Order: sequence, then C-alpha cells, then structure tokens
Amino acid sequence: MSKRAVSAGNDLPGIIRVLAPADQQVFADHLLRLDAASRRDRFNGVTDDGFVKTYAARCFTGKTVVFAYMEEGTVHAAAELHHLEGEAGGEGEIAFSVEKDFQHKGMGSLLFGHLVTLARHLGYTQLSVTTHSGNEAMKALARKFNAKLSFQHVETVGVIDISGAARQGTADSAVGLFGVLADLAQAVRRRWRSDAGDGGDRSR
Ligand SMILES: CC(C)(COP(=O)(O)OP(=O)(O)OC[C@H]1O[C@@H](n2cnc3c(N)ncnc32)[C@H](O)[C@@H]1OP(=O)(O)O)[C@@H](O)C(=O)NCCC(=O)NCCS
Repeated sequence: MSKRAVSAGNDLPGIIRVLAPADQQVFADHLLRLDAASRRDRFNGVTDDGFVKTYAARCFTGKTVVFAYMEEGTVHAAAELHHLEGEAGGEGEIAFSVEKDFQHKGMGSLLFGHLVTLARHLGYTQLSVTTHSGNEAMKALARKFNAKLSFQHVETVGVIDISGAARQGTADSAVGLFGVLADLAQAVRRRWRSDAGDGGDRSR
C-alpha cells in the first residue's frame, strides 16, 4: 500500500487516500452515482450531471483537498476540504458524500475524523460545514465532532474549532494514524507549492 494511503480498517476492504488530479474522473463518477436524495443533500438542491462534472473538476484546482474511501479503484465515499480564501486564521469548509450502500455504517465518521486530522496538519484552525436544515444525517455527524450548529434561513451551518485545546479528543487519539496523515499533509503542501510556482489558481 502506498505511503499516502491508509487502510480503512473497521473490517472494510478498501483504502482511504488523498485524490490527485488524475483521479478527477473516478471522483466525478462517485458524485454522479449518488442516489437522487443524497445528491440533493450533498449539493443543497437539485443539480444536473453537467453541474456535478464541472464541480468535480473544480475540486482539483486551488487548495481543495479530496479524501476518499476506495475499493479496487472506485471511489465510494469522499470528504472535501475547501480553503476559504481571505480568512485570517486558516478556515476551511468541508463536505461529505457517502454512497447509499455505504451510509449508516460509520463511513462518514471515519472520513470526518481523518479530515479533521489532515486539516490540523495543514494549519487549519476552524472548519465549517453547510447543509440544508432537514439533513439529519449530516447534522448528527457534525454534532458528533462537536460542531456548533446555527440555522441561517433554510441552511444549517456547523462550525468546528480544531485549534488549541479543542484539538484534543478529535481524530488523532481515535484513529492513531498520525504519521501517515502527516505524510499526506506534506504531499498536499508540496502540491500547493508547485501550483503556486506554476501561477496556479489558489482560490476554490
Ligand atoms: C451525511 C453523510 C455523510 C453521513 O455519512 P454516514 O456514513 O451515513 O455517517 P455515519 O454512519 O458515520 O453516521 C454518523 C452519525 O450520524 C447518525 N445518523 C446517520 N444517519 C442519520 C439520520 N438519517 N438521522 C439521524 N442520525 C443519523 C449516526 O447514527 C451516527 O451517529 P452515531 O455514531 O452517534 O450513531 C451521508 O449520509 C451522505 O453522504 N449523505 C448524502 C450527502 C450529504 O448529505 N452530505 C452532507 C452535506 S455536505
């Protein structure tokens, strides 16, 4: 197994790794495979395939990091970390997509934990997640990671403080993959630096 991938554990046969630009198609295929309700929940409304494909491509520009659960080269669940440009203290926005057959089995929690750890290695201090207020699964998942939920019109925004003392008790202790995730963070930073050298777009 690559140094940049971790076994998913929990008796799952797949691996979890950070996706590279070459994985854009398998990531798009995953988002396109979401059932109608999950796709609506993920994008907070109705979206057509064209929108989803364009969105998937955009996730491989700038500082966005996509973390995925994969079985035999197929992505079945993903977590995204989007850099919020212009925010003073390392703020990121996160999003999750778990295919229906993999939901309610702890996959969202597993990815959330890894994503928090990776985000901390990358210097983020606060993460936010936005969903529609009827998305009970996402709200439950966010609460599990101590998100403070607030309601704004039809949306619910969860904010997770991953700085200072609030870091304790999140993913590291539960997952114990500190070294591998530190390696992953280093690889991501290298990509950011090389994108910046190429004059790449660092916005979302
Ligand atoms: C939201 C989502 C990521 C959750 O992933 P998951 O793999 O099903 O989550 P888990 O199995 O880890 O469950 C997380 C917690 O939520 C709870 N939960 C899951 N579904 C729930 C539901 N429908 N209602 C209430 N609680 C629910 C679980 O009980 C669990 O809590 P626990 O560990 O204390 O028992 C997944 O349902 C999904 O991808 N949905 C479609 C896309 C989406 O909504 N994305 C979020 C917007 S960015």
